[in-house]
Amino acid sequence: MSRIFSGVQPTGNLHLGNYLGAIRNFVGLQDDYECIYCAVDMHAITVWQDPADLRSNTREVAAAYLAAGVDSKRSIIFAQSTVAAHAELAWIFNCVARLGWLNRMTQFKEKAGKNRENASLGLYAYPSLMAADILAYKATHVPVGEDQKQHLELTRDIAQKFNNDYETETFPLVEPLIFGEATRVMSLRDGSKKMSKSDPSDYSRITFTDDRDSIAKKLRKARTDADPLPEKEEGLEGRPEAANLVGIYAALADLNKQAVLDEFAGAAFSTFKPALTDLAVEKFGPIGEEMKRLMADPAHVDAILKEGAERAAALAAPVMAEVKEVVGFIRP
Ligand code: TRP
Repeated sequence: MSRIFSGVQPTGNLHLGNYLGAIRNFVGLQDDYECIYCAVDMHAITVWQDPADLRSNTREVAAAYLAAGVDSKRSIIFAQSTVAAHAELAWIFNCVARLGWLNRMTQFKEKAGKNRENASLGLYAYPSLMAADILAYKATHVPVGEDQKQHLELTRDIAQKFNNDYETETFPLVEPLIFGEATRVMSLRDGSKKMSKSDPSDYSRITFTDDRDSIAKKLRKARTDADPLPEKEEGLEGRPEAANLVGIYAALADLNKQAVLDEFAGAAFSTFKPALTDLAVEKFGPIGEEMKRLMADPAHVDAILKEGAERAAALAAPVMAEVKEVVGFIRP
């Protein structure tokens, strides 16, 4: 069976975009793949994280996986920092990846911003650690959002250069699995920006912990234009806020956008928003409830993370032994 690896950063404010764009898709993959799902706390600290928040956010990612329907018996759920192979392999990959490759990474440029001199070295090497996450398990498929495609290409470049330089076939070339409708959920305040945990406005996102009232309030305040919904999907072009809300509805209802418009063509937002609120509460609400329930029992979550770490370490061990042999590290 092919192996899946994916990760979510424990940086707080897990939202509907994380759910529809990533976590929700992890569930169905369990039937066809051996799945490894990670809370990537080492990636999180490439920018400053308060230690107490990091701990709680790491448990929150695990709870979100579980609440969404990831089965910890079939799949592996663990925290990145608890399996040493990630850091070990990342170092080796730091010596394979070229500066020129990393200089092209758009996420680094965005996250480092203007003051690049003050970005952490870890932020720069982030993609090399991500390659290590995946290749420590020789995973072949990686479900991610569009924005991670460039990092996966770099993972392939690293695998290929490693294999070439050492004349081996140690690493597979990974394939991205990009999901369809509404994998890109946009901000409720600005349809041209991605829904993000770091947006200063809480009204820009629906989080896992929002109850019915706050979901309703946020959708009521969501920015729209003045026109009714169009009949055809083409009519959403140039209307990013409308397209976003229709996309969210479609993703939650497991429909395509056209099917949503077939139902709501001509409707004003005053009609569509309450319908979207009901749907969001119905589909997303129970997952948030379950996550809150799990978060109230951190010992239970930690037990799952511990067992996951043991299973993950056992899978990474033979890969690391092979890599160290290939590289020429002694095993005294
Ligand atoms: N960079 C990913 C993100 O921000 C998170 C991540 C880290 C990841 N390691 C990974 C995703 C390995 C897939 C596979 O979304």
